[in-house]
Amino acid sequence: MNITQDIKYIGVTDYEIDLFEGQYPVPNGMAYNSYVILDEKIAVIDTVDARFCATWFENLETVLSGKSPDYLIVQHMEPDHSGSIKAFCEKYPKTIVVANQKAFNMVKNFFGTDLSDRQIAVGENDTLNLGKHTLTFITAPMVHWPEVTMTYDSFDKVLFSADAFGKFGAFDYDEDWLNEARRYYIGIVGKYGVQVNAVLKKAANLEIEKICALHGPVLSGDLTPYLNAYTKWANYEAEETGVLIAYTSIYGNTKKAVQLLAGELSKKGIKNEVFDLARCDIFEAVSKAFKYDKVVFATTTYNADIFPPMRTFIEYLTARNFQNRKIAFLENGSWGPMATKVMKSLLQDSKNLTICENNITILSGVNEQNKSVITALANELSK
Ligand SMILES: Cc1cc2nc3c(=O)[nH]c(=O)nc-3n(C[C@H](O)[C@H](O)[C@H](O)COP(=O)(O)O)c2cc1C
Ligand SMILES: [Fe+2]
Ligand SMILES: [Fe+2]
Repeated sequence: MNITQDIKYIGVTDYEIDLFEGQYPVPNGMAYNSYVILDEKIAVIDTVDARFCATWFENLETVLSGKSPDYLIVQHMEPDHSGSIKAFCEKYPKTIVVANQKAFNMVKNFFGTDLSDRQIAVGENDTLNLGKHTLTFITAPMVHWPEVTMTYDSFDKVLFSADAFGKFGAFDYDEDWLNEARRYYIGIVGKYGVQVNAVLKKAANLEIEKICALHGPVLSGDLTPYLNAYTKWANYEAEETGVLIAYTSIYGNTKKAVQLLAGELSKKGIKNEVFDLARCDIFEAVSKAFKYDKVVFATTTYNADIFPPMRTFIEYLTARNFQNRKIAFLENGSWGPMATKVMKSLLQDSKNLTICENNITILSGVNEQNKSVITALANELSK
């Protein structure tokens, strides 16, 4: 498949994997992208997960039609991309491997050799000339690992962005980029907003027509929506006005309260989404906490603590630097409700959280007084 006249797609899609990186559900598969630039010199950009090496070799051979690659550019050493480096180097013993020094150190630790007899170590702004195409390397530490390097092709105006701008799902899966790109970004890179911002600043100086990430589709056309989304996520700004209601419930009373709140918000035309943390993909709920500007935390008191999925949820948020949101608490307990106290303490180090005035304490069943506070909270959240 052609990305441009000279740039070919040789990636694979993994429909076998149940959980990407051991924890993220990927119901629509996962693409491990890889590219070839055909010029006077031929460069391959990244490999694929070792389980798909044979398919990747087939794709590569088709594109090469008998030629052999001059360079393998390694942008990221995570095994979903580096898994076939060793097999590739054995198959093409003359190909030079281009990566930064941190990546070569990892090559040694993964494969027992750092390929010192066949490597070019590159750093920030170093270039590699292929003929018409000159590649410039842009370091992108912690987006998503310390060794990550992006590659800019000034001839075709293509940014090979490593994991950045990637998403869950097969390469050609037809769906909106935003939701699955958000779930991917927040889940995997959410902690590193500062580093993502640094790379976005470097990218702002480049003329980019296409973004070729290591997961998900090639992005082309108007790139502003993708760049805007990344800028918001990196700065922990909400994308939209709206309310995420994250809850747990054992017997259904907290659920009932949450449904009343969601109903009132909807009546007022306030966008809201409700997630049962014990049943949903918790990472989708996490990503929605970064999408909207308001979050309601609703849970039951549980052995003088909170129901475990809510604790996990909040820990996932704080691990990703959750901040800059308006939040509210709803607690339930049959003899000594203390869920709000626990949730507040878990969030105490999160920056710039504004807590709503109307917080709800339910003593088992939802009573009339609870209902009026729910109405007041809906009003407060709709301001
Ligand atoms: C294992 C377990 C432990 C609980 N621990 C407490 C507790 O420490 N304090 C309390 O007030 N209620 C406790 N509860 C009671 C629930 O928090 C309470 O019944 C609540 O109303 C349940 O809300 P729900 O209908 O949304 O599940 C516990 C319930 C269970 C099942
Ligand atoms: Fe990665
Ligand atoms: Fe990746």
